[in-house]
Amino acid sequence: MKKVAHLVFIISLVQVLSGSVSAQNLLQNGNFQQLNQHWIHLSQNGAVSTHAVTDSGRTTGDTCLRFSVYQLGSNAYDVQSIHDVWNATTGSPYRVTLWAKANANGRKIRIIAQDTAYLNSDLTLTNTWQQYTWDFTSPENGLYFKIHWFEAGTFMVQDIAITKILPAPIPSYPDSLQHYANRINLNIGAALFPSGLVYEPAYRKIYNQQFNAMVPENAMKMPDLWPNEAAGIQWKDADTLVNFAMRNGKKIRGHNLLWYQGIPGWFAAKTWQPDTMRKFLKNYVHTVVGRYKGKIYEWDVVNEIIEDAGVNFRSFIVTNTLGNSIVDSMFVWAHQADSNAILVYNDYAIETGGTKFNTVFSMVQSMKQRGIPIHGVGFQCHFGNNSGSGFYSSIENTVRQIAALGVKVSFTEIDMALDKPIQQPDYVSQGSCYAQMLRIVLRNRPIMNTFMMWGFTDKHSWIPQYFTNRDETLPIDRNYYPKPAYDSLLAVLKTVVPITGNAKDISKEILQAWPNPSSDGFMLTGLTPGQTYKIVDITGQIREQGIFSIGQKVGEDLSTSGTYIILAGDGRKKVMLVKE
Ligand code: G3I
Repeated sequence: MKKVAHLVFIISLVQVLSGSVSAQNLLQNGNFQQLNQHWIHLSQNGAVSTHAVTDSGRTTGDTCLRFSVYQLGSNAYDVQSIHDVWNATTGSPYRVTLWAKANANGRKIRIIAQDTAYLNSDLTLTNTWQQYTWDFTSPENGLYFKIHWFEAGTFMVQDIAITKILPAPIPSYPDSLQHYANRINLNIGAALFPSGLVYEPAYRKIYNQQFNAMVPENAMKMPDLWPNEAAGIQWKDADTLVNFAMRNGKKIRGHNLLWYQGIPGWFAAKTWQPDTMRKFLKNYVHTVVGRYKGKIYEWDVVNEIIEDAGVNFRSFIVTNTLGNSIVDSMFVWAHQADSNAILVYNDYAIETGGTKFNTVFSMVQSMKQRGIPIHGVGFQCHFGNNSGSGFYSSIENTVRQIAALGVKVSFTEIDMALDKPIQQPDYVSQGSCYAQMLRIVLRNRPIMNTFMMWGFTDKHSWIPQYFTNRDETLPIDRNYYPKPAYDSLLAVLKTVVPITGNAKDISKEILQAWPNPSSDGFMLTGLTPGQTYKIVDITGQIREQGIFSIGQKVGEDLSTSGTYIILAGDGRKKVMLVKE
C-alpha cells in the first residue's frame, strides 16, 4: 500500500516538470528483498566494511540495504554495490529515485550510471529518510547502476528505482504566428540553440510551427565557432541551425562578428601585431559570412561597441590593437563577403534615446557619410514590464531618427523579464508590452521588418541564469503552453490586412507623388470614378475612406511613414503603398 502512494507521488511530481515517468522499474531487487540477487557488493584495496539486508526500512517490515564503511580503500571506488546491466537506450532520459539516510548528517554517497561512459551524482544524506532523484540521459545502450560508498559511516538505502522519463505531450496550437507574418513578409522569430532542435521535440515543433525567422543565440559567436585555435573553426552547431532553417524556410539573422564578450580565450591570450590581427579578422569575416552567403539575410556585424556610460567606444583587445576604425573595416569586409546581406550595428540601452543612442546615431551617420556599407541598427530590447505609453513612443521616435539616416531598424533580442514574485496580472501587462513592440514594427514598415525574440520559451532563456529575481520573459511558458504575450502577438498579427487573391499592384497607376512624408499626401490618378476606396494601415486600421476623384490628394494626415494599403470598394483591387 505504501509503495503505491510513493509511486503516485513521484509520477505527479514529474508530470509537472517534464511529462511523466514510466511505471516500470528498470532495476531489479531495488528494495533489497535479498542481499545479492542482481547486486554484487565489493570492498577492496584495504577497505573494511559490512553490508546486510535489514528490515529497518522507512516503515516497519520494509527491507533496506545497510552498508557500514569502517575504513576506506585506496580509491573512491573500492567500496561499492553494483547492480546488473539494465536496459538503457542511447539518448533516452532516465530518472533515478531512492530513499536513503546516514548515521550522521552530511555524509555522502555517489550514484553512478556506467558502462564505457561514466555519469554520476553525489547525494548528501541526512540522518532521517529522504527521497533523492537524479535525471540523466543515457549516452549508450545498457548501463550498470552503482553506488560508491566513498565516505566512512553507516548508510541505509531503500526503494531504488530507475524509470524512463516519458516525453511530455506537446501542446497543440490552433493557430500560428508565422501564418499571419508570412502574409506580409514580416520576420518574426527567436534566438535558438542547436541541441534544443536536435533533442527536444517540443522545442523543434513549436518553434517550427510558430515562427519564420531565427538567430543563433550563441552558435555563431567567435568563442563558440572557434573554441580552440589549433582545431580551427567548428561549424557543427552553426550548420545545424542554418540547415534546419533552410530546410524549413526560415529567415536567418547572423549574430555576431565582433563583440567584446565574444573573444575566445586563446585569442585574448595572444600577443598581436596590428597587421596580423587585421588580416586575421578580415579572413575570419570572409570565411564566416562567405560560408553562409545568400542564406543569412542580416548580420550583426558589430555588437555593443559603445560602453555603458554611452560616450566612448569600449576598450578591449581588438579596439586596443586596431583602434575604433575596426568598426568600419568589419562592415567593409562583411559587404565584400556578401553584398546582399543587410549589415547591422546591434546594441542595448539605445532603444529609448539618450546619450548612448546619440553616440550610436553619430557613429552611423558618420559611417553613412563616408560610404561605409551599414544598412541597419539593431535594437536589442531586453526589457522589463514597461507598460507606460511614453516608453513605446520614445522607441518609435528613435526608430524614425535612425530611419532618417537611410538605414533600417530591427528589433533583435526582444524579451520582457518579469520581477519575482510574478503575479497573474504581470502576464497580461507583459502581453500588452509585446503587442506594443509588434505594433511599432508594423507601423514602421518597410524601415522595420524584423521582430526577433531572445528565445521563445521560458524553459530556455538567459534571464534566470543572469538575474536571480527575474524570470518568465518570453511568450511561451516552460511547458510550451502559450502565455498572454503569445495571444497578444497573435491578436495584433491577425489585424494585419494581407495582400491576397486577386491583388494587383496598382500603386503605379494611382500613386503620383508622395514627396514629403510629413504633409504632402499623395495624388490619385488611376482610380475608377465613383468607386469607394479605403486607405488602411498595416495594422488594419482604416485611415481614410471615400469616393476619391482623379487628381485628388489623399493621405495628407498620414504623417508617419509606413506601409498603407488601398482597398478598392469591390474588395478585389488591393494595393500596398509604401510611404518612404
Ligand atoms: O554550453 C556551455 C556548457 O557546456 C557549460 O557547461 C556552461 C558552463 O558555464 O556554459 C555553457 O555555455 C554558456 C552559454 O551561454 C550557453 O548556456 C556560456 O557559459 C554563457 O556565457 C553563454 O551566455 C550567453 C551570453 O550571451 C554570452 O555569450 C547567453 O546564452 C546569451 O543569451 C547571451 O546573449 C547576449 C547576446 O549575445 C548579446 N546581447 C545580450 C545577450 C544577453 O546577454
